[in-house]
Amino acid sequence: MEQQKKKILCVGLVCLDIINVVDKYPEEDTDSRCLSQRWQRGGNASNSCTVLSLLGAPCSFMGSLSAGPVADFILEDFQKFHIDVSLVSEHAQCVLPASVVISNSTTGSRTILHMNRNLPDVTAADFPKVQLNDFKWIHWEGRNAEEQLKMIQQVTMYNSTLPKQQRITVSVEIEKTREPLYQMFPHGDVVFVSKDVAQHFGFQSAEAAVRGFYSRVKDGAVLVCAWAEKGADAMGPDSVVVHSDAFPPETLVDTLGAGDTFNAAVIYTLSNGGSLQDALTFGCRVAGGKCGFHGYDGISKYIKVE
Ligand code: ADP
Ligand code: FRU
Repeated sequence: MEQQKKKILCVGLVCLDIINVVDKYPEEDTDSRCLSQRWQRGGNASNSCTVLSLLGAPCSFMGSLSAGPVADFILEDFQKFHIDVSLVSEHAQCVLPASVVISNSTTGSRTILHMNRNLPDVTAADFPKVQLNDFKWIHWEGRNAEEQLKMIQQVTMYNSTLPKQQRITVSVEIEKTREPLYQMFPHGDVVFVSKDVAQHFGFQSAEAAVRGFYSRVKDGAVLVCAWAEKGADAMGPDSVVVHSDAFPPETLVDTLGAGDTFNAAVIYTLSNGGSLQDALTFGCRVAGGKCGFHGYDGISKYIKVE
């Protein structure tokens, strides 16, 4: 298959987001009304698939799902966004992870209470069912790192048999401050590290973070760090730090999934041969735009921006 026509695969979490929109953050032990409530499909890898699909990139999601009405809601929503779910593993006896989100439309802040009772992540044993030839890019949301490294190993083996232009690009996201995730740094061609992880290591800017973490990534890799309203920075093997300012929306209403949106827009640009600067700028533009409306549907207006 021609490389450009191949799909992007995102591996990670799908969950239910129960979103409560308020105009004032509630006081503890009070009884107040929300402006609105909605269910939304969530999870970093799942959200990034939504954005990729809205941008016009064919994509697949790989992750675990339970059975029952909530899982059906999730599956229907994947379908609505034309996201392939043939690599989803069903665990009929498990409970779907869910987040209760308080989304403050006055400040745009999102407060997440997440619960995953017993749904296991996909493992390296599930990975051979991936038809690697269908994909040009595979993105891992860092979760069960040991297993994910074994999956990446399978892709490395596959890539070693192919000329450069036919290889699969591997990206990884290190978002949570969990020690086992840090072993993923040397395994991505593109590595997304969060502000949270950067601050945990004492870095006070995206630039300091990409410089400080760069020795952990493999030769030739690109390291990307988004920093909310400060935009994002990235560095490749030439040691030049590239920056994009944020694109704040007229009114900030919903930052839920801004990072997932940013990652998707960066992957979209790089996978179409765009430069690192183009990717950062587009990532910030789409993610900033997203902060101006609820959910992700409004993203389709960015399709022709590139
Ligand atoms: P998350 O907290 O969802 O992981 P980040 O804080 O890392 O998201 O932000 C990702 C990108 O989203 C930023 O690089 C920026 O472009 C955009 N973004 C996030 N918050 C804002 C904001 N308040 N104003 C403008 N853009 C924002
Ligand atoms: C946003 C998100 C939500 C989900 C939570 C899980 O980035 O993926 O959709 O509830 O994070 O941590």
